[in-house]
Amino acid sequence: MYFDFAKHTPHERYKLLSSTVTPRPIAWVSTMDANGQPNAAPFSFFNVFAEDPATLGFAINHRSDTDRKDTGENVRLQNEFVVNLVTSDTVERMNITAIEFGPEVDEFVAAGLTPAASTLIRTPRIAQSSVSFECTLMQIVPLGTRRSLVIGEVLAMHISDHAVLDAGRCLIDTPQLQLVGRMHGHHYVRTNEIFNMPTIPVATWESKTASE
Ligand SMILES: Cc1cc2nc3c(=O)[nH]c(=O)nc-3n(C[C@H](O)[C@H](O)[C@H](O)COP(=O)(O)O)c2cc1C
Repeated sequence: MYFDFAKHTPHERYKLLSSTVTPRPIAWVSTMDANGQPNAAPFSFFNVFAEDPATLGFAINHRSDTDRKDTGENVRLQNEFVVNLVTSDTVERMNITAIEFGPEVDEFVAAGLTPAASTLIRTPRIAQSSVSFECTLMQIVPLGTRRSLVIGEVLAMHISDHAVLDAGRCLIDTPQLQLVGRMHGHHYVRTNEIFNMPTIPVATWESKTASE
C-alpha cells in the first residue's frame, strides 16, 4: 500500500504517522501561568535531539488559532518548562492531566500531583515522576498553522536515586525506571522487553564479509 501525503488530509496524515512512529516517549510537561498556578499535560510528539546544548522538543497541536493549549501559552509567557517522564505507576495520573480542562483548572490538584521545587527555574516539577528535566525555552517553531514545536535546553535533571547505578560516571539503570511509551491511539507500552545488540565495528564487518 502506498500513501501519497499530498492526497491526504492533515488528520489522515496524523493517523498514518502516529500509528507507525511508535512507541513514542511521553513528555509530561509542567508549566506555570502568569499567576503562578501550575499546569501539567502529556505530549507524545516528543524527543531529545542533542547534548551540547542538551536539547529536547515537543509539538503542540493547537486547539484553534487563538487557543494554543495552556502549555503553549505558559511556555511562551514564562520561557521555561519542566519535562517529566511517565512511568508504570504514574500512567493513570498522566491520563487525568490529558483531560481538555480550561486554564482555570490546576491539573496538579485534579490528578493528585505534588509540585516539587525545581532548582534552576521557577516552574515546579511533578514529585511523583522519577525523571524530570528543567528546561529553558530556546525556540518555538511554527509547523504550519496548527502546530508549534517547542524546543528547550535542558539545564538540569532530577532522577530517583534507585535508578542511579553510578552518579560519578552518570550511569543510569534504565529498566528500573519502568518508563511507559505511547503506541497507537490510546494504547501504551511498558518498556520491559529489552534486548541487547551492540553496533558492529567496521573492521569486524569487513573481516566477516571477507571470510565468507
Ligand atoms: C499520551 C498522550 C499524548 C499526547 N500528546 C500530545 C501531543 O503530542 N501534542 C498535543 O498537542 N496534545 C497531546 N495530547 C493531548 C494533550 O495532553 C491535551 O490536549 C491536554 O489537555 C493539553 O493540556 P493543556 O491545555 O493544559 O496544555 C496527548 C495526550 C495524551 C494522553
